[in-house]
Amino acid sequence: MTKDIFGNALLDYQNGNYSEDIITWTNISDKDELPLPYLFRPYSEMPKLEQKALQLCKGKILDVGCGAGNHSLWLESKGFDVKGIDSSQGAIDVCKRRGLKNAEYKALLEETDTFDTILLLMNGTGIFQEMKQVTKYLKHLKRLLKSKGQILIDSSDISYMYEDEDGGTWLDLNSDYYGELDYFFSYKGEEEAPMKWLYLDFETLKTACQTIGLNCEKVMDGEHFDYLARITNS
Ligand SMILES: C[S@@+](CC[C@H](N)C(=O)[O-])C[C@H]1O[C@@H](n2cnc3c(N)ncnc32)[C@H](O)[C@@H]1O
Repeated sequence: MTKDIFGNALLDYQNGNYSEDIITWTNISDKDELPLPYLFRPYSEMPKLEQKALQLCKGKILDVGCGAGNHSLWLESKGFDVKGIDSSQGAIDVCKRRGLKNAEYKALLEETDTFDTILLLMNGTGIFQEMKQVTKYLKHLKRLLKSKGQILIDSSDISYMYEDEDGGTWLDLNSDYYGELDYFFSYKGEEEAPMKWLYLDFETLKTACQTIGLNCEKVMDGEHFDYLARITNS
């Protein structure tokens, strides 16, 4: 059970009580700040890759792990039928306070409706948590997809994180997939229970899609080893 520290931070920001940022770190990286204003970014401040994903949206849309609802709210303002889901109660409370009409406290695997577009943004593959769960999540997403539907998802190839200054690499080829990270975060001195967070390189995502009859194409590369992919029924 999480303490919903992420949700509490979003609620603080929404309620005008912004005093500090979330601190994150992983098993392979040092502490870093995740600025709360970034989690409330307007369209103009979104990475190009997210703007592109929003431009490609069509029909009835599901925003998975919607957070504070930035993508959903923009889509709603353009007249789309959009539903945001998040496994953080605080995040969903914030979405509602910001005016999102359809926001539900729910984990992806609990969703049963079908959609023309399913969005998973800000390292969307993170929600799969670990390599061994990728097929289960992709099969579930496939069930939620209308026949001509699309999944728009972003992630990064983080092999660069294993390089040292001389360009050498310390990737351990005997260990699990290099994009599987233990992710930690704290806010106002309180630490969340550690969670798994998965970064998938494009080729690995594509192969996983193909094995269950999904087509996966790269839409664009981002600025730092990240990419946006579009997954459809093949
Ligand atoms: C990195 S944040 C991204 C938030 C938002 N999409 C954005 O771009 O600002 C990931 C979000 O996914 C949510 N999440 C994690 N696992 C989830 C799951 N299994 N089902 C639904 N939401 C989940 C978290 O609570 C968090 O709000």
